[in-house]
Amino acid sequence: MSAAKRIDGKAFAQGLRERIALQVAKLKADTGVTPGLAVVLVGEDPASEVYVRNKAKQTAECGMNSFTHKLNEAVSEDDLLAKVAQLNADPAVHGILVQLPLPGHMDTARVINAVAPAKDVDGFHVINAGRLMTGQDAMVPCTPLGCVMMIKDTLGQDLSGLRAVIVGRSNIVGKPMAQLLLNENCTVTIAHSRTRDLPEECRRADILVAAVGRPQMIKGDWIKPGACVIDVGINRVAAPEKGEGKTRLVGDVDFDSAAEVAGAITPVPGGVGPMTIAVLLANTLTACCRIAGVEPPRV
Ligand SMILES: NC(=O)c1ccc[n+]([C@@H]2O[C@H](COP(=O)([O-])OP(=O)(O)OC[C@H]3O[C@@H](n4cnc5c(N)ncnc54)[C@H](OP(=O)(O)O)[C@@H]3O)[C@@H](O)[C@H]2O)c1
Repeated sequence: MSAAKRIDGKAFAQGLRERIALQVAKLKADTGVTPGLAVVLVGEDPASEVYVRNKAKQTAECGMNSFTHKLNEAVSEDDLLAKVAQLNADPAVHGILVQLPLPGHMDTARVINAVAPAKDVDGFHVINAGRLMTGQDAMVPCTPLGCVMMIKDTLGQDLSGLRAVIVGRSNIVGKPMAQLLLNENCTVTIAHSRTRDLPEECRRADILVAAVGRPQMIKGDWIKPGACVIDVGINRVAAPEKGEGKTRLVGDVDFDSAAEVAGAITPVPGGVGPMTIAVLLANTLTACCRIAGVEPPRV
């Protein structure tokens, strides 16, 4: 029997999109500016294509302009950089996202750092990472920003003094997640593959964030009773119970055993995943307001 509150990322994302749509309409009425998000997709990776289509649909549903630029897999890095430069200069574009992963012949860091920091709605540019680290206005990576929104929605706005453990130290999830929780006055530990006695570290956490990429690694007996558990992991595993060759998605947390102990927990699917695109739209609105010289609304 599961004791934990199940954090519904789908419902939270829906509410966030509705609040964004209201603010987009207000911005248009007040200033005549319509936020625009440009997505650049290189190649034909089927998962990326689905993701880019969803982004375009949700962008339009929020009342923003959506621009999708598809480039051939064999495009040169210089031609991709020229496309980014064109979007940097385009006044109708306030957010630019280059869909990752890029083909192997590209230098991903070089491409990311070619996006104008003010339009870097993914928050991956080194300037935005530095701004986040030093407490200045930054574009913040969508997944960790969405996680903090869900944590505050669950635990209340004041997270001061809570012990947070982040498992994973990637530039796109673990590190910005740790920085955001530090900014919320949590006492933060970042754990990784070299951490000694990971279960014991996790058991100290009032807020436990798993961003590892290892199916169901974190078990119920690694969790402090009542903790808030945010599972960022998305792992596809075999599901023979559904039929031969079938698969299903699981997180980095063993949901069933963790839900017995945690106070609140995000499921996979339906937890962190649905939040990511909604936060991308929130970042596009923020970028547009800053570029237009208007105070970005809280959504
Ligand atoms: N929901 C979403 O929207 C969303 C967005 C982004 C990512 N994700 C998912 O989140 C997961 C993490 O993504 P990522 O990009 O951050 O992954 P990543 O770059 O591969 O980083 C994984 C991190 O986990 C650590 N790690 C690996 N094995 C470990 C172990 N046995 N014990 C402790 N730590 C271990 C690694 O430590 P080292 O640094 O020591 O190697 C690394 O820091 C993936 O499943 C990804 O699909 C979901």
